[in-house]
Amino acid sequence: MANAADALTIIPTGGPLGAEVRGVDFTQPVGGQTTAALNAAWAEHLVLLFRDQDISDAQHIAASALFGPPAVGASRAYFEKQGRAPGDGVAAHPEIAVISNLGPDGVPVMENEGLGSGEDVWHSDNSYIETPPAGSFLRALEVPPDGGATSFTNQYMAYETLPDEVKTRIAGLRTKQDSTRNSAGVLRPGVTAPQTLADVPGPDHPLVRLHPVTGRKALYLGRRRIFPSQYVTGWDRAESEELLDFLWDHATQAKFEWGHHDWRPGDMLLWDNRCVMHHRDAHAGAHRRIMHRTQLGREKPIAA
Ligand code: OGA
Ligand code: MN
Repeated sequence: MANAADALTIIPTGGPLGAEVRGVDFTQPVGGQTTAALNAAWAEHLVLLFRDQDISDAQHIAASALFGPPAVGASRAYFEKQGRAPGDGVAAHPEIAVISNLGPDGVPVMENEGLGSGEDVWHSDNSYIETPPAGSFLRALEVPPDGGATSFTNQYMAYETLPDEVKTRIAGLRTKQDSTRNSAGVLRPGVTAPQTLADVPGPDHPLVRLHPVTGRKALYLGRRRIFPSQYVTGWDRAESEELLDFLWDHATQAKFEWGHHDWRPGDMLLWDNRCVMHHRDAHAGAHRRIMHRTQLGREKPIAA
C-alpha cells in the first residue's frame, strides 16, 4: 500500500535540525497513521525534506493539509490591492505563493517584485501578520545549476544557549514585525517606506515563543530590514538596536544551521516558522528558479 506508516524512513541530516523523509508519495492518499508519524517527525526535526514529488498544485495543497489548514500567503493581499489577478503576479490557487526569479518579460533577473535571484535574508515567514503560519511547504519546479541554497537555523537552540542574564532580560518582551519589505528588501506594492520607528507598520510578537506542540521555548525574531524596521516595543532606539544586534548575531550562527544545497525539481521542504528561521543564498540569476510555496496552520504566537 502506498504511504504505509511502516514504510516511512526518517533520515536525520546529522545537523542541528532537518531530516529527509522517504516512503511518501503525495500523488497518493496519506492515511491517519502515516500523517501522525509525519507530524511527529516534523516536531522532532523542525524541517522535513521530501524528494521526487512530481505533483500538481492541488496535490501540494492536499499534502500541506496533513500538517495544518492551508492558508493564503500574506503578501498576496498587497498584489490584489493593486488589482492584480491570477496570471498577473498571483497564482491561480490562493494557497500557493510563487517564489520566482522571472522579470516582467518572463526572463530571469536579479531583482523583481518578489525575491528575485539575490539573497533572501534570515526570517520567519509572514511574521508581519497577527497569525503567521506554523508551517511553510516549499516545492521546487525549476532550479538553477548552482546557488540558491535554502538554509535553516534552530531557534530552540538559539534560545537555550542564551546567557541566563539575557534570558532574564528578554522575558516578556515583544518586537514590532515590519511588514513593509519582503525578505529580499523589496518594498511591497503600494507601501511607502517608513521614515521613523513610529511609522513602521506590523504586529508586535513575543520575542520568546512557546511552541504549542512541543512545549519548548524558541527565540522568535521574525524579521528585520534596513532601519527603521524591527524594534523592541516600549524601548528606546539605542537600547533596542543593541539588543537586536546581539540577538540576530546569536540566532544566525552556523552551529544552529543546516542547509539544503542540492535542490532538484520535485524536492519539497516543510519548515516550522515557530522555531526555525530560514535564509536563501543568492544565485547568478542566469537560470530560472521557480518554487511554489504553501502556508499552513495560522496561529497567534504564544508568549513563553
Ligand atoms: C520562502 C523563502 C526560500 C527560497 O519561500 O519563504 O524564503 O529558497 N524562499 O526561495
Ligand atoms: Mn521565506
